[in-house]
Amino acid sequence: MKVAVPKESLAGEKRVALIPDACAKLQKAGLDIVVQSGAGVESSHSDEAYQAAGASIESDARALLSGADIVVKVNPPGTDSSGLNEIEPLKDGAVLITFLDPLTEFDRIRKLADQKITAISMELVPRITRAQSMHALSSMANIAGYKAVILAANHLPRMFPMMMTAAGTISPARVFVIGAGVAGLQAIATAKRLGAVVSGYDVRPAVREQVESLGGKFVEMDLQTGGAEDKGGYAKEMGDEFLKKQREFMKRVVATQDVVITTAAIPGKKSPVLVTAEMVEGMPTGSVIIDLAAERGGNCELTQCDKIVVEHGVTIMGPSNLPASVPCHASQMYSRNIQTLLLHLVKEGAINLDREDEITAGCLVTTGGEVVHPRIRDLMQLPPLDPPADSGGEQAEEGAVTKEGDAT
Ligand code: NAI
Repeated sequence: MKVAVPKESLAGEKRVALIPDACAKLQKAGLDIVVQSGAGVESSHSDEAYQAAGASIESDARALLSGADIVVKVNPPGTDSSGLNEIEPLKDGAVLITFLDPLTEFDRIRKLADQKITAISMELVPRITRAQSMHALSSMANIAGYKAVILAANHLPRMFPMMMTAAGTISPARVFVIGAGVAGLQAIATAKRLGAVVSGYDVRPAVREQVESLGGKFVEMDLQTGGAEDKGGYAKEMGDEFLKKQREFMKRVVATQDVVITTAAIPGKKSPVLVTAEMVEGMPTGSVIIDLAAERGGNCELTQCDKIVVEHGVTIMGPSNLPASVPCHASQMYSRNIQTLLLHLVKEGAINLDREDEITAGCLVTTGGEVVHPRIRDLMQLPPLDPPADSGGEQAEEGAVTKEGDAT
């Protein structure tokens, strides 16, 4: 089977889906790797490095895509610089593994189904122990958390660590991280390593220990948060009343910070506004807000996606693709996620879609001309599908739905 690795077409994207290191293991599993010429250059992987690892190079994007049995990408298929639609050349039955934005981009999902593509969404890989090494949302969030701190340090007119020098004592920067998931915890760890005084907050009280184990102080807000977590370990959407009270508490905490990093996200939903314009006004002049949830509206009222806004002397940044700013390591980690998922799916040199497997059922979006993921079907207002003929009937279908709920 031919696995194609196209050059990413999204503006500003520097990552690549597979790096040369992954080639040997995949070849051993019976896969041939074909890489678009230059696909890895911006992440420090030359065509020669791929060739040395046993991959072949194809310079024509259409030929690469139309000849592939499996296509692995970072970003959802779009239109490349030559105007080529990246879905159109794919052959009937081809497998596409990539971030797909499946909870919102339904036209794309419909197109993939109509073209009989088997689409596998990296966002929907379940957050379970067995799938940890395939979980690209986590690996990329780790990078975003790290880079958010570096960005903040770069824009702050102060230093992070305390310094006692002959020229006087410098007090450490105060960093507050809202949302202590993967990105938030990495931000806390990074800010701590740089010497800041770090505190963190999350609606899930279970993360207190994790914040503290990284040297951060957990900010206690006297709010009822029971049931803030869903079965998959993701936060649930909280009500307006809760968010209003939360903002009142937050106002006092935020007013004392030099840096605020926000990472509070609800998958598939608009990000909750946690830092209002009024709170920004109360922050010290020169302070910095890095809003990692900018792509879905942002956690700060004043955030503009991919722009630097300065309001009341506070710098507010909402970068939407921080992993692309560390392309070498981001590609290395994403490539490992893809490699592990591919090896999970490939049996005896061919893709085996075991729909009773929690990982496969969790991330399979379209196959055989149908949208098969129960949650996506529901969001697209499609009627539930009959259980697959070989699934063991009603019981298996019920199982798949429960597991999917767990996963997302
Ligand atoms: P996660 O699901 O692990 O963490 C999000 C955390 O926010 C959870 O712990 C959740 O409980 C918390 N949260 C939700 N609502 C809250 C509220 N009202 N108050 C306080 N905490 C709340 O997600 P992960 O993987 O850490 O990603 C975090 C964010 O970073 C996401 O928005 C993701 O899209 C974004 N991200 C951004 C990147 C960028 O370059 N801008 C790159 C990668 C991820």
